[in-house]
Amino acid sequence: MSQILHLTCSPRGTESHSRALSTAIVQRIVAVRPGATQIRRDLGVAPPDRIDGLYASALVAGQAEIGFSSPALDRSAAAIAELVAADMLVIGTPMHNFTVPAALKAWIDLVIRPFHTFAPGANGKVGLLPDKPVFVAIASGGHFHGEGAAQPDFLTPYLSAVLGCIGVRSVHFLPVQRTARATASDLEQQTHALLKRVDDILRHMGA
Ligand SMILES: Cc1cc2nc3c(=O)[nH]c(=O)nc-3n(C[C@H](O)[C@H](O)[C@H](O)COP(=O)(O)O)c2cc1C
Repeated sequence: MSQILHLTCSPRGTESHSRALSTAIVQRIVAVRPGATQIRRDLGVAPPDRIDGLYASALVAGQAEIGFSSPALDRSAAAIAELVAADMLVIGTPMHNFTVPAALKAWIDLVIRPFHTFAPGANGKVGLLPDKPVFVAIASGGHFHGEGAAQPDFLTPYLSAVLGCIGVRSVHFLPVQRTARATASDLEQQTHALLKRVDDILRHMGA
């Protein structure tokens, strides 16, 4: 049976475009994988606490971290266990200042952890997780992706890099753009095209 980990990262609750799109993606997955279970974490509304000094020292200590204990290490262990148990990860995130919002960064700081999700190697980090499909529903007020992009994009390369370093490489970005100005029908058209892409990806996966 499939398990989906669904992270929503906007503080805007039910007003959020990225949350609406990621929820629709989860529904598409469940439609082709009946019985799939879902763990939902609303990071935008209840962000993980920032990492503390003990956590940072434990990570710097590397394999010697065994002697450390801190609430952040416990939160990290729980977040990693949820990520490992999931067959698919669905993230709904706004673009904030050209990159991921602080709430998603706080989750990333918990799950990208030496000797747990990656191993430091002579030629860089080696991922310890098996690959899994990731769908990233992004909402941006402006236009950052594709033809006519008018601002830098530190979000998609950053997420590809951090997930890639733990072994997760099948990352699909699905941006709904120009939310600040788009008409309802433009947003609807974008969403329709993005969900069609999700259906194609799922078909390709034989889901
Ligand atoms: C703090 C903050 C920073 C933002 N930075 C950007 C940005 O760099 N580029 C952009 O296109 N939109 C930016 N926006 C607009 C949001 O991306 C846009 O409102 C989006 O729809 C939010 O996603 P949501 O609807 O899921 O909450 C920003 C909004 C906030 C609140």
